[in-house]
Amino acid sequence: MREKLQIAIDGPASAGKSTVAKLVAKKLNYIYCDTGAMYRAATWYALQEGVALDDDQALGEMLTQMELKFIPSDPEQLVFVNGVDVTKAIRLPEITNNVSLVSAQPSVRADLTKRQQQIASNGGIVMDGRDIGTTVLPNAQVKIFLVASVHERALRRFKENQQKGIKTPLDVLEQEIEARDYKDSHRKVSPLTQAKDAVLLDTTSLDIEQVTAEIMKIVKTEEK
Ligand code: CDP
Ligand code: CDP
Repeated sequence: MREKLQIAIDGPASAGKSTVAKLVAKKLNYIYCDTGAMYRAATWYALQEGVALDDDQALGEMLTQMELKFIPSDPEQLVFVNGVDVTKAIRLPEITNNVSLVSAQPSVRADLTKRQQQIASNGGIVMDGRDIGTTVLPNAQVKIFLVASVHERALRRFKENQQKGIKTPLDVLEQEIEARDYKDSHRKVSPLTQAKDAVLLDTTSLDIEQVTAEIMKIVKTEEK
């Protein structure tokens, strides 16, 4: 039987991580884990409970009361916090613009990292995020670091928003993406950074199929 690998896909916002991670997981019949959704769910819960988004200790205590569940579904998996379906709510701008503050708190990272390591413990997993290759799964057999220009990433988000009826102008999206990139890569605990042994893939001029094919090529070399 083939070994079940751990595949870590990291990179900045809208580099295409979740789209290609899902496709790779489907091709390999692996579990897909969206760690960004976990940080988004924690942010949603903190706003719901009125916990200050920079209160490390209070957030840590809050998380002991947060049951987080992913339910497989098409086209996207559903996310539940304490039985409430938050799949759509965690993608709203209010969450997107606050998540980097919550994700910078050490107690939040410690709690969610532990959950992620548990989910990945049996292998057969594609996990995407910011610190998977560096911190969550440092021994992952495949590590990919996806990047694309800020303009291209803002354009991708713009097109995605158009389909959802969200009308944020392109230049505002560019500023938001740059601000989030900065916060994610300058925080003290496990900042967004390429693992030394990760393969860098610039997707600026690659479509989803091309990126998926590149990753599958790397996976095939690791499968025994
Ligand atoms: O989909 P998008 O690239 O907009 O972001 P996401 O993957 O949903 O992640 C949302 C936020 O969660 C990021 O901007 C980070 O602040 C945080 N995050 C993190 O700190 N570590 C991870 N492993 C995943 C996400
Ligand atoms: O997870 P992350 O924030 O890195 O990005 P995503 O949500 O997977 O992708 C953001 C948008 O870019 C989606 O609408 C994808 O369909 C699109 N995309 C693309 O146009 N070309 C790629 N090579 C990758 C993603």
